[in-house]
Amino acid sequence: MSVEIRIKNAVKKYGDNTIIGDLSLDVREGEFFTLLGPSGCGKTTLLRMIAGFNSIEGGDFYFNDKRINDIDPAKRNIGMVFQNYAIFPHLSVKDNVAFGLKNKKVSKDQIEKETSKFMKLMHIDQYADRLPERLSGGQQQRVALARALVIQPDVLLMDEPLSNLDAKLRVEMRTVIKQIQNNVGITTVYVTHDQEEAMAVSDRIAVMKDGDIQHIGTPKNIYQRPSNLFVSTFIGRTNIIKSHLTVKDGRCYLQLSDHYQVKMTNIREEYQKDLDVLVSIRPEEFIIHVDQKEGIKAIVEESIFLGLNTHYQVHSETGEELEIIQESKIDSIIDKSTEIYLTVKTEKINVFNEDGSCNILTGVMNDSIEMNES
Ligand SMILES: Nc1ncnc2c1ncn2[C@@H]1O[C@H](COP(=O)(O)OP(=O)(O)OP(=O)(O)O)[C@@H](O)[C@H]1O
Ligand SMILES: [Mg+2]
Repeated sequence: MSVEIRIKNAVKKYGDNTIIGDLSLDVREGEFFTLLGPSGCGKTTLLRMIAGFNSIEGGDFYFNDKRINDIDPAKRNIGMVFQNYAIFPHLSVKDNVAFGLKNKKVSKDQIEKETSKFMKLMHIDQYADRLPERLSGGQQQRVALARALVIQPDVLLMDEPLSNLDAKLRVEMRTVIKQIQNNVGITTVYVTHDQEEAMAVSDRIAVMKDGDIQHIGTPKNIYQRPSNLFVSTFIGRTNIIKSHLTVKDGRCYLQLSDHYQVKMTNIREEYQKDLDVLVSIRPEEFIIHVDQKEGIKAIVEESIFLGLNTHYQVHSETGEELEIIQESKIDSIIDKSTEIYLTVKTEKINVFNEDGSCNILTGVMNDSIEMNES
């Protein structure tokens, strides 16, 4: 059975040090939910609180309607996979996978059947009798995953399970993990600080910073309408430009350089006033012009052809270094020292208040706000 996880006002302290101050979130039944954030922001700490390996200094943790704060970790029916595999070196692949079932006193036949089913699912059945030392990192991680899943846990917790693998295997294994999670349909909390990995596997992502949730949403929501400046810079690459918002005859304009302003039709009503703002423009949200003089004037400093795309590093008339990505054209890449003009795809860019704490556009979908207000 798969469960919903609810965390209400969680607090975690180490001595006088508050690591998590007041954190609430909801993981839906069967969902692939990822905690993403910079090193030290509290991802492992929170995961270990869910697992029961960390004390809880405040708040309530629920699996469905059952409060689990005081339930022994062994009785929470969770499967865990860690960064360093943590499989038993002296046991064969098969015995590693069967381990949890033997502990549960399941019948021999049943153990044989389930073990073999999960080894097949993870494509490790051909190594059943091997010891872990004779497996590659990716194969060992599959053993760890099979061992976690075979006990049919209510919740699967994974802490950076791919970080010890090389780049190619990481991409391969994340597809495997996503497929298995889909097939088995188990509620999963996944920890990573790799934003691309998070985007690839997650139904929803919680972006964390300093023990706080910044934004909970689908990969698409978080990328396209990040809730604040931190989220916009942590997920994907972006250029941040200081700008000013003005309102004339009820219409909003962003001044992106002395001679270039754009009309914005999606500024939230309470922010439709004269305001210093920060604008986030992703590299692919610029359009480069060489034959028209409308836009932000800039000089190309570097152009790097990467096949599908060409990356440009440019210096703008407003004194900023900007990164731009354009789909490569068949006939030309723009040479170093060329004068260009940049316009922006206004429907894609994001605008934040002066301190970056809030996206002032409509259409930001952040599941953490509702929860904190209720
Ligand atoms: N046992 C402990 N005693 C004291 N402080 C701790 C302990 N474990 C973690 N911390 C502190 O709690 C904070 C959060 O640590 P945590 O391991 O949760 O970070 P993380 O987000 O998992 O980082 P990483 O991406 O590097 O794994 C850090 O500042 C860390 O130093
Ligand atoms: Mg960690």
